[in-house]
Amino acid sequence: MKDRQCLYFGIFQLIMWAGVANGEFYSSVDSMHELAQVEEELLNATRSYLESQQKQLDFYRRYVEQLKREHEWATTQSKLDEYLGHPLHAFRLIKRLVQDWDALILEPIVDNDAREEFSAHVEALGTVFGYPDQSELQGAVKGLARLQAVYNLTASHLADGVINGVSYGSDLRWRECYEIGVQLFDLGEYQRSLEWLQVAVMLLQNSPEKEEDVEHYLSDIREYASMANFELGNPKKAGILLNQILESQPTHSAQQTRKYLESRALGKIDQETNPTWLANYTMLCQGRRLPEERSADPLKCYLDGKRHAYFTLAPLQVEPVHLDPDINVYHGMLSANQILSILDEAEKMQMFRSAVSGNGGNSTVKDLRVSQQTWLDYKSAVMKSVGRINELVSGFDMAGAEYMQVANYGVGGQYEPHPDYFGVNLPVEFKGDRISTSMFYLSDVEQGGYTVFPKLNVFLPPVSGALVMWHNLHRSLDVDARTLHAGCPVIVGSKRIGNIWVHSGYQEFRRPCHLTSDSYKSAGYQN
Ligand SMILES: *[C@@H]1O[C@H](CO)[C@@H](O)[C@H](O)[C@H]1NC(C)=O
Ligand SMILES: *[C@@H]1O[C@H](CO)[C@@H](O)[C@H](O)[C@H]1NC(C)=O
Ligand SMILES: *[C@@H]1O[C@H](CO)[C@@H](O)[C@H](O)[C@H]1NC(C)=O
Ligand SMILES: *[C@@H]1O[C@H](CO)[C@@H](O)[C@H](O)[C@H]1NC(C)=O
Repeated sequence: MKDRQCLYFGIFQLIMWAGVANGEFYSSVDSMHELAQVEEELLNATRSYLESQQKQLDFYRRYVEQLKREHEWATTQSKLDEYLGHPLHAFRLIKRLVQDWDALILEPIVDNDAREEFSAHVEALGTVFGYPDQSELQGAVKGLARLQAVYNLTASHLADGVINGVSYGSDLRWRECYEIGVQLFDLGEYQRSLEWLQVAVMLLQNSPEKEEDVEHYLSDIREYASMANFELGNPKKAGILLNQILESQPTHSAQQTRKYLESRALGKIDQETNPTWLANYTMLCQGRRLPEERSADPLKCYLDGKRHAYFTLAPLQVEPVHLDPDINVYHGMLSANQILSILDEAEKMQMFRSAVSGNGGNSTVKDLRVSQQTWLDYKSAVMKSVGRINELVSGFDMAGAEYMQVANYGVGGQYEPHPDYFGVNLPVEFKGDRISTSMFYLSDVEQGGYTVFPKLNVFLPPVSGALVMWHNLHRSLDVDARTLHAGCPVIVGSKRIGNIWVHSGYQEFRRPCHLTSDSYKSAGYQN
């Protein structure tokens, strides 16, 4: 029954977050693993298909050679009459045409078992995993654009495979940059589209493509660049680019594009109104603190052996990162082995879910998209100790805890700023709102993926094994809006976290409520 409830609750969660973070393939390294597996299977299937086709073709070729030899022998001797006059020869020619050509050549070529098997295999793979579609490609490009925006990365650096000064040796070709530019144009990101198209032009001019091809491709890129310029309110630049195309290729479709643009009102530059949190968020994600009017006293790390007898011998390593609301990082809470066991358990849950959705027909892609998070109860040995750690450190009763949500974010994967409390529409499965959040880091992240609190000037780089804990509610149980937080996009690597939310219902004796909100302590903040 509990499972049911939590499953239901999980779905509820996903719906709630769907608006904030679309979990596409690209945003979870785990679901990208599945795509890599699909590609491997396609490669294997195609290779064996080609092999079987090759064998068949070799067989036909030998057979045709044999027929040809016999045919030539019959005809080139200019003794065809003589050849055909022989009753056995006449029989063989007729048999060849009646049976051999039909059975051995025409039929197998028309009814090609291997080809049917191949296409059945390809189709079956599609039903099990779901192939990514155009929207998925757009999602990946959006992810790239997001990385550029949050971390101020240039297209030319990205195309060189250089991220924040680190070279990953994965440089892009002109065609890929062109494709990114086109996708961004379709998404209405004209400025960024232009940036990628410019990189594409540069790479194309230095590419080993044939000269006449280069001219042809350049025209295609310029056509997009022209339209992007038009949308950005630069009709002059758009016109110049179209002229360049038509000079070298008078029949190019730029002709129609020009007519189309001339018939249209000038594109206007959408002054996008950025959300108010964006400036703080961007800076913190880059690991830069915001300037403050009065700088707070620096907080000192300390060892805490008194919280519970359990910590007498191995004191908690506490790094306070914010006071009121308190945000603390507890280092070294999970060992590498414990993390492996947790991720193992999460992966098994995932496989179970994939298997279920595999039978479910056409909802598979959707299911894959959400497979980036899963929920673990506290039954296994490792999860029992996770629950115990959470109880001892937070002081809260695990009776009010949701299952631990294990999430995986890949490149570009992020959550925009959100609070963890519900405020209204409390889920009926739990008593009260989410009083506290415990976020266990289950991996390091090579670049990016910080947890940031835009209202509190706090950024936290993920450190494997550490636990971050804070209260989402005031002592009065009113929501504390200052706890708004976000997961910054992962630039390089895979981010894994485990979240435990404890609800206020069972905590009457653990953190007694006050009659009034304690937000008076921090005047100026609105709930
Ligand atoms: C694909 O083929 C390789 C080598 O033949 C093999 O090791 C691998 O297991 C195959 N993969 C799948 C998914 O069948
Ligand atoms: C972004 O990077 C460029 C250099 O690549 C720099 O000139 C610019 O100031 C940066 N912008 C921000 C907001 O950091
Ligand atoms: C899923 O499949 C069912 C029948 O198999 C069909 O009626 C339905 O339209 C499909 N849904 C989508 C979103 O393709
Ligand atoms: C941005 O951070 C500053 C400094 O911490 C803070 O005073 C301000 O309220 C924050 N702005 C938003 C919109 O969260």
